[in-house]
Amino acid sequence: MAKRPTVVHTVSALRREIARYRKDGKSIALVPTMGALHAGHLALVREAQKRADLVVVSIFVNPTQFAPTEDFGSYPRTMKTDVAALTTAKADLVWAPSPAAMYPEGFALKLAPEGPALAGLEDKFRPHFFGGVATVVAKLFTQVTPDVALFGQKDYQQLRVVTQMAKDLDFPVKVVGIATVREKDGLAMSSRNVYLSEVERRHAPVLYRTMKTCAARIKAGEPIAMVLEEGRGHIKQAEFAVDYLEARNALTLAPVSVLKDGPIRLLVAAKIGKTRLIDNLAV
Ligand code: PAF
Repeated sequence: MAKRPTVVHTVSALRREIARYRKDGKSIALVPTMGALHAGHLALVREAQKRADLVVVSIFVNPTQFAPTEDFGSYPRTMKTDVAALTTAKADLVWAPSPAAMYPEGFALKLAPEGPALAGLEDKFRPHFFGGVATVVAKLFTQVTPDVALFGQKDYQQLRVVTQMAKDLDFPVKVVGIATVREKDGLAMSSRNVYLSEVERRHAPVLYRTMKTCAARIKAGEPIAMVLEEGRGHIKQAEFAVDYLEARNALTLAPVSVLKDGPIRLLVAAKIGKTRLIDNLAV
């Protein structure tokens, strides 16, 4: 039977484990998560195992990246099954702080990322989000001192923000983005997919299908603005309210209007019922 990973809940217990790893000369990979683990997270763990001696998975539903109107209270919390999945995946350590351990009484810092964090995508609809993400990920990097940290490409703007933050703060960590894991019908795996009703779930793959069609048309030289406008229409027909479907430079996230402004990444966010989904695709 696989060995259950050690689970630590306090910064001091985490430090003890990390010091032990370092004394043995081991390299460390970090997979930051908010739990409710799915195949996408487990793919990050597998990739982490290829890149370092030991894999630390953090599980922390970070309150500072949710607006008061968002789903912090109802976000799925499945610690027991998460630890079971991480046992099977052979992760080494689970860092699961309480909110008070992460943000003790009197905590008074919030990073204010710019650059890719102000691209007019997620930041336009969730203005609080990247400040919360950058702050908690910087804390995770300080606490775990990873050599490499792995993030899913599904949260593409987040990946760009975290990469920039690690560079700007001189964290000696390699930030790596790992390809999105999809359901058979193309829907990107997400902890929030559990919110979808049966009917909404049937509609949900339209996001991926539309991006695929748009990517092929853009690659074939069709005008980007027209392709995206038709794409948005297509998504709306599947009962989604579209926040954005945009073509951006994959590195800077600056808007692109012609193919040569690339490499191009398509990014989409749309809401069906009460559930907001995001996804992205390389052109
Ligand atoms: O992508 C997530 O699950 C979260 O935003 C992260 C990176 C763990 C920070 O809370």
